[in-house]
Amino acid sequence: MQALQVTSLSGDLSGCQLIDLPVPERKPGEVLVRIRAASLNFPDLLMTRGDYQFKPEPPFVAGMELAGEVIEADETSAFKVGDHVMGGAKTGGMAEYASVPERNLRPAPPSLHFTQAAALGAAYTTAYTALIEQGDLTAGQWVLVHGASGGVALAAIDLAKNMGAKVIAATGSPEKSARIEQLYAPDAVIESNGRFREQVSEITNGKLADLVLDTVGADIFDESTRCVAFGGKLLVVGFAGGRIPEIAANIPLIKGFSVVGVRAGEYARRFPERGARIAAKVSQLASEGAIKPAIDRIVPLSRWREAFEAMDQRQLVGKVILTPGS
Ligand SMILES: NC(=O)c1ccc[n+]([C@@H]2O[C@H](COP(=O)([O-])OP(=O)(O)OC[C@H]3O[C@@H](n4cnc5c(N)ncnc54)[C@H](OP(=O)(O)O)[C@@H]3O)[C@@H](O)[C@H]2O)c1
Repeated sequence: MQALQVTSLSGDLSGCQLIDLPVPERKPGEVLVRIRAASLNFPDLLMTRGDYQFKPEPPFVAGMELAGEVIEADETSAFKVGDHVMGGAKTGGMAEYASVPERNLRPAPPSLHFTQAAALGAAYTTAYTALIEQGDLTAGQWVLVHGASGGVALAAIDLAKNMGAKVIAATGSPEKSARIEQLYAPDAVIESNGRFREQVSEITNGKLADLVLDTVGADIFDESTRCVAFGGKLLVVGFAGGRIPEIAANIPLIKGFSVVGVRAGEYARRFPERGARIAAKVSQLASEGAIKPAIDRIVPLSRWREAFEAMDQRQLVGKVILTPGS
């Protein structure tokens, strides 16, 4: 089978190559999946460099998220041959087949195409965990979402609007604003380069944001500490901007807000019932058409480089999906 292998770690994708590998042998407790679509997430890019918190030893097959159909499973498995599934593991998804622990898979909503099912999981469960599970979002609250063109951020905008919240989408790429507006009609789109507190204050009539969802870190985080309402939460989701910021403890004290670390995958592992409830809710909302992942482009696995470079160069508005076997 064709697979995208990370043979060595590098900053420029030179350690990645499409190669032929045997179809993985399924172990008990695993499900062999024929992959129809794999979704690229920022951690996949970081893992090619050895810059992610999880550091697999090369060689490994890239790809943490997939959708496809079941080829083989244990007799006692909840899945049967031909079932459509989505999910994945930390690696292995960018190939024609993967053998995945059953606990990491769930049924793909029948109404979703494989490409949409692959785009749904990580982005929406992360956004749901942040905003609703840990952020206690309620209708009418103001939510400021950073890195607005990204997979997790767009999922957050979609979910927050669906919950009846008021959303300020903040992007560092103002040329993407029209597309962000067109996708989910946030209440405002602002540019996050430089200072943005005054704009947030003006838009919210001085209230500031009840929740700030930050996938970028760096200067965006620093300025965001001036944008959270008293009693609000600054949700730390990622550091796409590169610098991991720091905060003096007196700032959340004086301003009366909480800084909340979000680690959606670990949250689901530590609290499996809550994780299952979050995943089920995301699937239900998608099945009903209440939420819909934004897909920037779908490319064959053979054009994996284009996908990784587009993410690295910050060209995407939404997810990029790779289709193996094409
Ligand atoms: N905590 C968790 O559980 C969890 C789960 C999944 C992902 N994450 C993290 O969340 C972050 C976003 O992941 P994602 O998959 O949504 O990534 P993505 O689709 O690539 O989105 C990242 C967005 O961040 C913004 N950005 C700002 N500075 C950037 C830079 N220097 N390089 C690239 N993008 C930059 C861009 O938005 P604009 O151009 O609109 O500003 C970009 O679209 C990553 O740090 C990832 O590791 C965390």
